[in-house]
Amino acid sequence: MLNNKRFAPIAAVAALTMALTGCGGSTGGGGGAGSDEGPAAENLDARGPITYVRGKDNSDVVRPLIKKWNEAHPDQKVTFKEQSDTADQQHDDLVQNLQAKNADYDIMEVDVVWTAEFAAKGWLQPLEGDMAIETEDMLDATVETGMYNDVLYTAPQRSDGGLLYYRKDLVPKAPGTWDEMMGMCDIAEENDMGCYAGQFAQYEGLTVNVAEAINTAGGTIIDEEGNPTLETPEAKAGLGNLVEGFESGNIPEQAITFQEEESRQAFQSGNLLFLRNWPYVYNLAKTEASSKVQGKFGVAPLPGKDGPGASSLGGHNLGISVYSDHKATAHDFMEYMISAESQTFRATQGSQAPTLAALYDDPELIKQLPYLPVLKTSIENAVPRPVTPFYPGVSKAIQENSYAALQGEKSVDQALADMQQAIKSAAAGS
Ligand code: GLC
Repeated sequence: MLNNKRFAPIAAVAALTMALTGCGGSTGGGGGAGSDEGPAAENLDARGPITYVRGKDNSDVVRPLIKKWNEAHPDQKVTFKEQSDTADQQHDDLVQNLQAKNADYDIMEVDVVWTAEFAAKGWLQPLEGDMAIETEDMLDATVETGMYNDVLYTAPQRSDGGLLYYRKDLVPKAPGTWDEMMGMCDIAEENDMGCYAGQFAQYEGLTVNVAEAINTAGGTIIDEEGNPTLETPEAKAGLGNLVEGFESGNIPEQAITFQEEESRQAFQSGNLLFLRNWPYVYNLAKTEASSKVQGKFGVAPLPGKDGPGASSLGGHNLGISVYSDHKATAHDFMEYMISAESQTFRATQGSQAPTLAALYDDPELIKQLPYLPVLKTSIENAVPRPVTPFYPGVSKAIQENSYAALQGEKSVDQALADMQQAIKSAAAGS
């Protein structure tokens, strides 16, 4: 169940939170846990129409759930505000509207890496008292992503762990290590296709992929005190693997423009032997009429140094805005969206990762989604990205410098040294 690998990163992120917020208090915005006054104390019993804001519903699971809710709650209807499918654009849209105290953003999907920033700004309703939710049956790692300064601010709704999709019709068995995978790239060449891709455009997905490469090589982004730890042989080996992948052509050139969707399309159209992506790809690659890999792909753990690699922990929680006019409705809708029924629906229709532990052991679900045990292991062993209210700056430091290295504009050493410096400044809030 729980294992040691998980505790170190969580201790480290807790330390970084402390280091970055001074005494561990709120960085401003006036909200803070359990506020008895200010917007967090208002509209707690109020019911009425609300808006649910989240990124593009690639898997078409949101509208059916909202339809069902609306049929049962004619006076508390939910309107779906659909954002783009890029994490950074979703983030900026939320920030703008929360800064403007827009009461129309009642309940939102909050990427696991934004909890600290939004909570510290006082934008999220603490999930305490009337707003509390049940988290006992959820995977510990997912609950941790909703916490800031020991208070739960966002409800774990769907998790995410990196998986390796591979063409089982072309390789004898999934590679167990990165080197083994690179060793299979001649098969890609023989079949006139790219060998490996993840997400390497300059956005949040690049942070995910670079963190995975570094963690998988035995390195870390920050230490237990919250200081960046990028100038190490392990971090060098990790980022170096990706740089060499581009240099050798094992990672095709176009992959420098890939976000999740572009990389999924490349795999589905038969142009990639191996793909690192999230679980949502499974159902689409299996069922979309345009998919050329139906029945031809398998799912395996990310390949590591000597065995499985370390995924970055992803996921999307739900947060209620302190500026919402109808918080009782928002809270009920939150409970509906995190229920076993909704999670099962999203798992079966969209192959999205549940947060409820029991669903991973459900024989019926495993029959339909045979990768569930692999996914559970991926999530339980996943490494959180740094937890800090200054996360956007920390992520930017990782993105800009690793992108320059992948493009051959900076040496790996230089990129890591610059990343180290830039994270230090970002972490100091400057
Ligand atoms: C997925 C993950 C999220 C991550 C994003 C990066 O949506 O769930 O945590 O930040 O990908 O693109």
